[in-house]
Amino acid sequence: MRHDANLTTDRPTFVTHLECSMTGERYEADQLHGLSRAGRPLLVRYDLEGVKAALTPEALAQRPADLWRYRELLPVRQTTNIVSLGETATPIVPLEKETGNVWVKDEGRLPTGSFKARGLVMAVAMAKELGVTTIAMPTNGNAGAAAAAYAARAGIEAVIFCPADTPDINVREIAAQGARVYRVNGLIDDCGKIVGQSKDTRGWFDLSTLKEPYRIEGKKTMGLELAEQFGWELPDAIFYPTGGGTGLIGMWKAFDEMEALGWIGAKRPRMYAVQAEGCAPIVRAFEAGERHATRWEDAHTVAAGIRVPQAVGDFLILDAVRASGGKALAVSDAALVKAVDDAARKDGLLMCPEGGATLAAYRDALAGGLVDAEERVVLFNCATGLKYPLSDQSKYLDRHQPIDWGEL
Ligand SMILES: Cc1ncc(COP(=O)(O)O)c(C=O)c1O
Repeated sequence: MRHDANLTTDRPTFVTHLECSMTGERYEADQLHGLSRAGRPLLVRYDLEGVKAALTPEALAQRPADLWRYRELLPVRQTTNIVSLGETATPIVPLEKETGNVWVKDEGRLPTGSFKARGLVMAVAMAKELGVTTIAMPTNGNAGAAAAAYAARAGIEAVIFCPADTPDINVREIAAQGARVYRVNGLIDDCGKIVGQSKDTRGWFDLSTLKEPYRIEGKKTMGLELAEQFGWELPDAIFYPTGGGTGLIGMWKAFDEMEALGWIGAKRPRMYAVQAEGCAPIVRAFEAGERHATRWEDAHTVAAGIRVPQAVGDFLILDAVRASGGKALAVSDAALVKAVDDAARKDGLLMCPEGGATLAAYRDALAGGLVDAEERVVLFNCATGLKYPLSDQSKYLDRHQPIDWGEL
């Protein structure tokens, strides 16, 4: 099969409607939607019987290994609306120096260097399909970069708002990929409010996490891919760095869809939502037994991607974590930085700080008996570690002086 077969072959699509994730209220497919009337995320629903008849795991295995091979389970109707920068399947790398049976799904290999590519490629393709000309979005960095790249590709204007202290590389890559980018003196939810206002004042389409229905559909491919890579038997536990939680919600949705298709059984991984101690609204709500999380004031952590004081999909994250028998866990910045350092030094895998948070949480979980060493555990490294500042540990060598080889 040609390398670009998933991007160029017309395949049947099966979206039947959209549904409010809180009330179940039904919405028409093929129309532009934001949140539901209840102010909650909309979920895309498919004719899964139809998908089952059209696609088998065996057929899937013959297709090129990218995100678009799940086309029958994705919302884009017209092949010409597919946008792509090469959304390759990401590898699962074992951490051989860690105790236990632990793999990293390395999402840093995706276009723009993070798993945000999965959500944004789908949101932008659908924006194109539904006639959007300008998108606006708040970001902690990586999502904005992915939005800018795909919007450029699709010929859509992008206006991005990020907290003033967003990592410099992210702010620069957003602009380099053709978007207008503004640093805002606030956190991501403050940026989100500006985006909300832009809808009324400028008519820009709001592409915020979970405020449009399709980023979840892109992110759910992490769950589809994981099942396929594990031979259609899911791992025992998943550790996911949780900001807005789109990926966790998306994977949980993918598991249900795959079970309905008969591709997997009823067994689910325990889902561990990992946050930083300096911004842990989901952990606090989980521990208090609440279904919704209140805003975390004075949020701070070096893991910028998970500095999300309030998530619109809080109840979807908490429902999935609880239903799975998992937990919400917080780790300190010191522990996540050490985890990044250890994985790079000992296993040669340079993770991002948010990925490091999942390793730190895994270590705590192992020590605390939440997981045992025989279980198969997957951590999500959501971005390449190369995007983040690294300390300079090099030493100077003067080639004009005699070299003291014993000292090298
Ligand atoms: C590197 C990184 N990790 C994790 C996250 C959080 O992802 P989610 O919003 O799916 O919880 C982000 C979001 O900005 C990120 O950039």
